[in-house]
Amino acid sequence: MSEQYSLQTKLLHNEHKVDQATGAVSVPIQHASTFHQFDFDTFGTYDYSRSGNPTRDALEAAIAELEGGNHGFAFASGMAAISTAFMLLSKGDHVVLTKDVYGGTFRLVTEVLTRLGIDHTFVDMTNLAEVAAAIRPNTRVLYMETPSNPTLNITDIHGVVSLAKEHECLTFLDNTFLTPALQRPLELGVDVVLHSATKFIGGHSDVVAGLAVTKDEELGKKLAFLQNSFGAILGVQDVWLVLRGLKTLHVRMEHGEKGAQQIAEWLLGVPEVKRVYYPGLKDHPGHELQKRQAEGFGAVLSFELENEEAVRRFVEHVKLPVFAVSLGAVESILSYPAKMSHAAMPKEEREARGIRDGLLRLSVGLEKPEELMADFKAAFAHVRGKVEHL
Ligand SMILES: Cc1ncc(COP(=O)(O)O)c(C=O)c1O
Repeated sequence: MSEQYSLQTKLLHNEHKVDQATGAVSVPIQHASTFHQFDFDTFGTYDYSRSGNPTRDALEAAIAELEGGNHGFAFASGMAAISTAFMLLSKGDHVVLTKDVYGGTFRLVTEVLTRLGIDHTFVDMTNLAEVAAAIRPNTRVLYMETPSNPTLNITDIHGVVSLAKEHECLTFLDNTFLTPALQRPLELGVDVVLHSATKFIGGHSDVVAGLAVTKDEELGKKLAFLQNSFGAILGVQDVWLVLRGLKTLHVRMEHGEKGAQQIAEWLLGVPEVKRVYYPGLKDHPGHELQKRQAEGFGAVLSFELENEEAVRRFVEHVKLPVFAVSLGAVESILSYPAKMSHAAMPKEEREARGIRDGLLRLSVGLEKPEELMADFKAAFAHVRGKVEHL
């Protein structure tokens, strides 16, 4: 409907802005699990809510429009979306993935898909030659996550898509960190975009949800079939929460990104910080590429302290961010990847990916950035005190 509008406006003005039956300006929550059929021979649009539900349809249409796709799917979690997308594969197939993929995806690929006879190779996706070398005759999917979690590496989306087309593979991209507000992979030729909508799309740390979007008609039909077959759909209350979160996506991303840039630049000058990972920094190896393929750098950054003890001291003294698994919320979230998002990854694998014991990830929320920095400054003073005594 709203092809001519910017994403910012489309978030609010889409085909579900007003309920056609009542004029309600909030999508009605349709709890029915089943639907009466008025005609014995011809069934209506809806028959059973796993297969289709008007409330879920509203979210699926919204995310499809925002990503520039034709078919959206809402799942019970980001992992449900990712797992369902992987069901497009069959026994004997092979996947090439970015080596610093989200820990849950790593677990799915290494401990579940292998059992089903689906093999994988992890590569440094910032290196296209390495991606090309890993492709085998049975490779079906090149799987991207960019910026990657938690070291914020940038993959050349167009480069990977070209390789995939050359080798007749599909491309999947986990767009959780940037959302369609900042990056629209389908426009760069990606086949399936995946989201943990638990993060920026939901935005309020109050719902677990996943989304998948494709532009391709055939893939759309296959994903619809898999969503109904596997059944990991998003419930309608949660759909409503995601729809409400989505309305403010643009302002939240904009504010979080500004804060992330400010904080990342400030952290560079903090003596306790050994390294800062943020694609918005000019010397980040993916900075220029990111500027070309996306509209921003996102609201997540990571930084490395000396060791686990320094991290413990910092976390124990910081007051504003919550210390928690997850990211992408109105409140800033500080996470410890080694024990949280990447706990499922063996230590050697983790460290090989740069996820060392001193690494912290920060998802910048809607607080005043100066107040976050003041809070961190006070906590760094405690790190200093402790490290000096070691
Ligand atoms: C990049 C990324 N993808 C996928 C997931 C999985 O999503 P969910 O926790 O909603 O299942 C996460 C969760 O942290 C994530 O950070």
